Amino acid sequence: MKLHGTMKINHNGHLEIGGCDAVTLARQFGTPLYVLDEACFRHNCRRYYRAFTERHNGLAVYAGKTLLTLAICHIIAQEGLGLDVVSGGELHTAWKARFPMDRVYFHGNNKSEAELRLALELNVGSFMVDNTYELAILSRLAKETDTVAEVILRLTPGVEAHTHEYIQTGQNDSKFGLVIENGQALETLKLALSTENVHLKGLHCHIGSQVFELESYNHTAEVMMAFAAEAYRETGWAPEELNLGGGLGIYYARGDEPQSIEAYADTVITAVHRLAGEYGLPAPLVLVEPGRSISGPAGSTLYTIGAVKEIPGIRKYVAVDGGMGDNPRPALYQAQYEALLANRATEEPGELVSIAGKCCESGDMLIFDIKLPAPQPGDILAVSATGAYNYSMSMNYNRLPRPAMVLVDDGNADIIVARETYDDLLRNDRIPNRLLEQQKVLKLAR
Ligand code: LLP
Repeated sequence: MKLHGTMKINHNGHLEIGGCDAVTLARQFGTPLYVLDEACFRHNCRRYYRAFTERHNGLAVYAGKTLLTLAICHIIAQEGLGLDVVSGGELHTAWKARFPMDRVYFHGNNKSEAELRLALELNVGSFMVDNTYELAILSRLAKETDTVAEVILRLTPGVEAHTHEYIQTGQNDSKFGLVIENGQALETLKLALSTENVHLKGLHCHIGSQVFELESYNHTAEVMMAFAAEAYRETGWAPEELNLGGGLGIYYARGDEPQSIEAYADTVITAVHRLAGEYGLPAPLVLVEPGRSISGPAGSTLYTIGAVKEIPGIRKYVAVDGGMGDNPRPALYQAQYEALLANRATEEPGELVSIAGKCCESGDMLIFDIKLPAPQPGDILAVSATGAYNYSMSMNYNRLPRPAMVLVDDGNADIIVARETYDDLLRNDRIPNRLLEQQKVLKLAR
């Protein structure tokens, strides 16, 4: 397993993260356990801040969908990044954490009227408008509340990023954004310019996630700037902001070769500035919306191994106390992960096994064919790079409570998400009176 961030193997032969022994963490907080390496998370934020803001006067906006909690909002605010939220729930989290609202970018292809109203009340910095339906509602609500909404139009650049089909977003056949190629984008841009109580500030696109080729970004910048030039010729309007979305890939397993944050920044910013010069446009502020490349490598999940079942000549199944409930990515996208035994980290990984989750579903497999030192019940399995789209996509299938999350740094470990209890699972359950009445009747009848 690649050691990410502050991970190391300590003198006990145990995995250590943020100066904390992973075996001790498992004992202290129980498993499954999400462990977030604060120094790694902050380091990734800082690399974005330096590469985009200090070097080029741009802005990196953290994509909250990858991992958002109150504590995360505090870190993002401290590190000077913006925050991309995609729902009333994420917005509420940011507000409760007192995140500076002028740095919030509100996304979503079907924001409800209630969500838009809440965002206006909270003075959200920018509305990433996805369609004309939303534009009309936003204009009406802004008028009612006597405000002007800052609008960025989300466009579909027609770029197909090389990534899993389900996480591709830039192609024309997408539920997101306004298509450039067929004129829809330009038409809506003109409409936005004449719409009351909105100020059209810029343009946005996002081509997909877990992208390894910087050429895809270069090409996207070309498509977006060509569109900006066309809009400028037709209307005299030029974008103050150009947001090229997120998507930078990370290392999960062998074969993944991510590009550096710095190379990514240089590619997109150089391209936009060069094209602005060529088209005679004022250079827009360049924004990106990284999520996975900030939170992903900073997270790990600790599990306790339980049942080990060998089917001779076929496969050895090693079951852990979590699975698709805390990490649905392997089941959804055939995502690959690496792992090691945190309590036996120096032992030779000599046995080929497959890691199964505990959900009642055959598809609940975390890792197929991984080499580990013959796993035994009670061993602690650490899966790396689980910081993005794990907790945020977790679920209670089979009424499994969701794990706790600890933030580790310099030998300190603090809970930032408490473990769900069985009673938490019942919190929203209700029994209608008529069922209780029936129970009484049945008792009487007996
Ligand atoms: N901006 C927009 C508009 C997005 O749609 C996304 C991701 C991002 C930024 C952040 O992209 P990132 O830097 O994290 O790649 N659940 C899937 C990924 C879905 C991506 C959704 N949009 C997964 O687990 O791989």
